[in-house]
Amino acid sequence: MNVADLPKVELHLHHEGAAPPAFVRQLAAEKKVDISKVFNDQGGYAFKDFVHFLSVYEAATSVLKTPEDYARLTRAVLEESAANGVVYTESFISPDFCGGGDVAAWRDYLAAIREAADKAEADLGITMRGVVTCVRHFGPEKAKASALCAAETAGDWIVGFGMGGDEGQGHQGDFSYAYDMAREADLRLTTHAGEFGGPQSVREAIEDLNVERIGHGVRSIEDAGLVKELVARQITLEVCPGSNVVLGVYPSIAAHPIKRLRDAGVNVTVSTDDPPFFGTTMRREYEMLHQAFGWDADDFTNLNTTAANAAFCDDGTRQRVLKKLERS
Ligand code: ADE
Ligand code: ZN
Repeated sequence: MNVADLPKVELHLHHEGAAPPAFVRQLAAEKKVDISKVFNDQGGYAFKDFVHFLSVYEAATSVLKTPEDYARLTRAVLEESAANGVVYTESFISPDFCGGGDVAAWRDYLAAIREAADKAEADLGITMRGVVTCVRHFGPEKAKASALCAAETAGDWIVGFGMGGDEGQGHQGDFSYAYDMAREADLRLTTHAGEFGGPQSVREAIEDLNVERIGHGVRSIEDAGLVKELVARQITLEVCPGSNVVLGVYPSIAAHPIKRLRDAGVNVTVSTDDPPFFGTTMRREYEMLHQAFGWDADDFTNLNTTAANAAFCDDGTRQRVLKKLERS
């Protein structure tokens, strides 16, 4: 069988970062916003490095101005994910972009996103859950506002709290107040670390924020003691190989440490991060990993089971997802 045809679980997808360029161009035209600098000559997103990527991401996101826009985005993203065989997806959603951190406005955005997700579940068979994310380079005060939005809406659909953004700014521990708020609201925790930051950033994430998953975390491979600790603590890495290659963290998939981390016993999973930005899809990630490492259907089913077990959803949802992964 072609491994790309397998049912998939995705744990690391930025909601705006999954917006197809054609969708963003359409919204920009409707709203008469000029974001031509966001695109290259081929109509894809244009950026030259990670920090530039973050600013292009924010410029593209600026066309999403209403809950209705987010409902349309949700439909477009879930259609693409479902077409890639994704049966369960955890999407990172930022109150900073959805109502500017105001709880009442956030509730309106969230209601629109959920309605679109419920409809997609009914007619495309894909289940989505939300992980509220703060943005590291917006600073700890904005992160607290995001955590309040997360805490106020925590439940069976908003299931986690996380942080993206520029790892070069500040420390994980600067955000401990926001993370404490989220933890007290029974949200499960993840943060980006070990993508551009070295192994020390992963240690800080574990020690200062007490997260159970790490977004990327791949640079843990540079510290054998840390790799052992990830195994001992059963921390799951949300690995996004194609993203890492396009952003220059590794020169190729073959040079990527995902196989070495997996062989060392770390819980690794596979996601796309911001697929249209990085010219990838879940199918493509599987094809690239199959080609680089010879992983077969059993390997990928194993990775997907790991992902389902590390998903932040309730156990009833998890059992339904695990059932969809079973092969005869
Ligand atoms: N926001 C969107 N994509 C991101 C990434 N790969 N790293 C950090 N923040 C992000
Ligand atoms: Zn990410």
